[in-house]
Amino acid sequence: MMSKNEDTVAINEVVLRDGFQNEPSFVPTEEKIRLSDRLSGTGVRRIEVSSFVSPKAIPNLRDAADVFRGIERTPGVLYTALVPNVRGAERALECAVDEVNLVMSIGERHNLANMRMTCDQSLAQFREIMNVVAGSGIFINGTIATAFGCPFEGRQSVERVLWTIDTYRDLGIEGITIADTIGMANPRQVGELTATILRHHADLPLTLHLHNTRDMGLANALAAYDAGMRSFDSALGGIGGCPYAPGATGNVCTEDLVHMFHNCGIDTGVNLPALLELSGELPATLGHGVPGYIVKAGTSDRVYA
Ligand code: COA
Ligand code: ZN
Repeated sequence: MMSKNEDTVAINEVVLRDGFQNEPSFVPTEEKIRLSDRLSGTGVRRIEVSSFVSPKAIPNLRDAADVFRGIERTPGVLYTALVPNVRGAERALECAVDEVNLVMSIGERHNLANMRMTCDQSLAQFREIMNVVAGSGIFINGTIATAFGCPFEGRQSVERVLWTIDTYRDLGIEGITIADTIGMANPRQVGELTATILRHHADLPLTLHLHNTRDMGLANALAAYDAGMRSFDSALGGIGGCPYAPGATGNVCTEDLVHMFHNCGIDTGVNLPALLELSGELPATLGHGVPGYIVKAGTSDRVYA
């Protein structure tokens, strides 16, 4: 999981999961497969291909198994899927995922709305999942959703985040993602939480999942980078959101995030022109425009005649 150059940032593309789950209409399976295959060549580290959740809860991703069967796997890219429960983990195993991403919100009420489980029930599922995946070689990531704030309960304490990380690690979860599910975080908070987590867990493969709901996504990303974060989730075009979180909007936009890092002299290993080409095709796929800036404005070295 660790990058060769410690200043290189890993970009994890979540458009196929977080992006498409919240779209008004179903994106055809072939389109998803095509996008995954093209993203595989852009230099992103990880692609969250889909989620193995209830098709009633997220109808847009009911084709998860077909998408996994259809995609090409590029060596060096990790193909991951969101999993809420044992049934999801079993489905993920059947599809030979490289990684499962177990998700629980630390806001108890958001977890109930989204996963229809209390946090204790989610953790009980995770404990069972560890038995299901034992010996498979699959990397186990655990997401702490609403880590910076819950739409129903407000701010969450740093102690609760740290307790959850300890609990996840005790279960055998290898990597942790802290998620700002509805964009409540600010740069100071993100920097401080990142630094605190890395002070307690220097060796932890830690990822940040940001939403741009209140236009602080890129500022939050840079604050996290300055505090030591080296892995970021983002969605092409800046689309996405949790259908069970009121007010949720898009993820931080992949091409805008990569553009910012490159402008700051921070390497991502990602081919920005290739991303921009894919982002430029999204409106035709989705039937509406996307929030991303750079695809409209051009990169900052653009000069007009
Ligand atoms: N994959 C597919 N189907 C699943 C499933 C899974 N992982 N887990 C449960 N199901 C099915 C059950 O088989 C059952 O089907 P049936 O009605 O045909 O008998 C139905 O879903 C209800 O099962 P139950 O265990 O009672 O689940 P629930 O209704 O309490 O819902 C979750 C729990 C976790 C399955 C559901 O809330 C969910 O999928 N949430 C995910 C939401 C999400 O992805 N949000 C965005 C990402 S943050
Ligand atoms: Zn999200």
